[in-house]
Amino acid sequence: MAEAFEPKNIIVTGGCGFIGSNFVHHVVNEHPGVHVTVLDKLTYAGNPENIAGLPEDRVELVVGDICDAELLDRIVPGHDAIVHYAAESHNDNSIANPEPFLRTNVEGTYCLLEAARKYDVRYHHISTDEVYGDLALDDPARFTEETPYHPSSPYSSTKASSDLLVRAWHRTFGVRATISNCSNNYGPYQHIEKFIPRQITNILEGIRPKLYGDGKNVRDWIHTDDHSSAVWTILTKGVIGETYLIGADGEKSNIDVLRAILERMGKDADDFDWVRDRPGHDRRYAIDSTKLRRELGWRPKHTDFSEGLDQTIAWYTEHRAWWEGAKAATEAKYAAQGQ
Ligand code: NAD
Ligand code: DAU
Repeated sequence: MAEAFEPKNIIVTGGCGFIGSNFVHHVVNEHPGVHVTVLDKLTYAGNPENIAGLPEDRVELVVGDICDAELLDRIVPGHDAIVHYAAESHNDNSIANPEPFLRTNVEGTYCLLEAARKYDVRYHHISTDEVYGDLALDDPARFTEETPYHPSSPYSSTKASSDLLVRAWHRTFGVRATISNCSNNYGPYQHIEKFIPRQITNILEGIRPKLYGDGKNVRDWIHTDDHSSAVWTILTKGVIGETYLIGADGEKSNIDVLRAILERMGKDADDFDWVRDRPGHDRRYAIDSTKLRRELGWRPKHTDFSEGLDQTIAWYTEHRAWWEGAKAATEAKYAAQGQ
């Protein structure tokens, strides 16, 4: 374990998105002495409501683009760390139009690394297990920090590219960087284009849920609050230059997750539609997070998936106003893709 780092003034990019905003809430609730500057472009996936109501003396929102080097020159000095969540994050969108993924995920990371280098600021890079490609359903292996990169989609290839930039900027320029690669998150504030909130809000709207392919694809689910505590652990105790995998042993097939949602929402197990599969659809992700647990002592708290799912269904049921405005356009986009 490295000497503890005690940041007081951090920049969180993408702090109005799903996982970034949950991290901002986590820091405000768990780490009282820390001020957060959220840098967010407020794309379709960013919503200032996600951080509304947090104390103004703890959280400041700067609306802007991570690719804007002049803006970074204005805001980065005076901060001790950048925690970089901002991204184009949805695989299906990257298949429909890869261009914004290259710009935000690759060029945006480059701009932040250059700012971290120029102002000697600690940098933590949020990445994904998708950089490792996929595993067969019957493969006993899980991803580790040593698994070779083998991304499948335009999204995951841009995330893999950004990870490689971080490694190079650390080795060549000495940027004080760490990387984490996490599995599929669930919880409040997730955009309704994603699997779990799409199905919950479909049922709430009287639309039949949609399952891709044969439904046997496996994702390794982690509650977003556990992702936040892992990132804070790595930021404050992680060894510079190291990569840590974050996961909570939550492997489940899509059909099992969908049937659990249907059952909890009072629907029949077959009340859904099979739809066109995602091109290049990764079969299975699975994370071995031994390094993070053993070296930094992190443990997930939300280990009961059924309980987490109940809370997530309750959150979308109680926050209709948060998602209702985006529902028709999201479903129209999917319908045009046969999904
Ligand atoms: P999201 O799409 O919900 O949010 C992305 C946020 O980034 C939005 O607030 C958006 O406005 C902002 N943003 C986009 N482009 C920007 C730009 N150019 N400049 C500034 N802000 C910009 O994403 P998410 O699901 O919360 O994912 C956050 C991060 O976590 C991403 O880096 C993603 O790759 C990674 N990740 C996600 C998951 C998951 O399950 N969702 C799992 C592992 C890793
Ligand atoms: O593994 C981490 C990744 O998890 C993150 O890097 C990504 O940002 C995040 O979006 C997520 O990627 P996935 O592609 O796994 O998540 P998504 O919610 O899009 O889909 C989860 C699974 O459900 C996947 O196998 C596709 C399937 N699916 C998805 C939708 C939207 C369906 O069967 N039906 C659907 O309607």
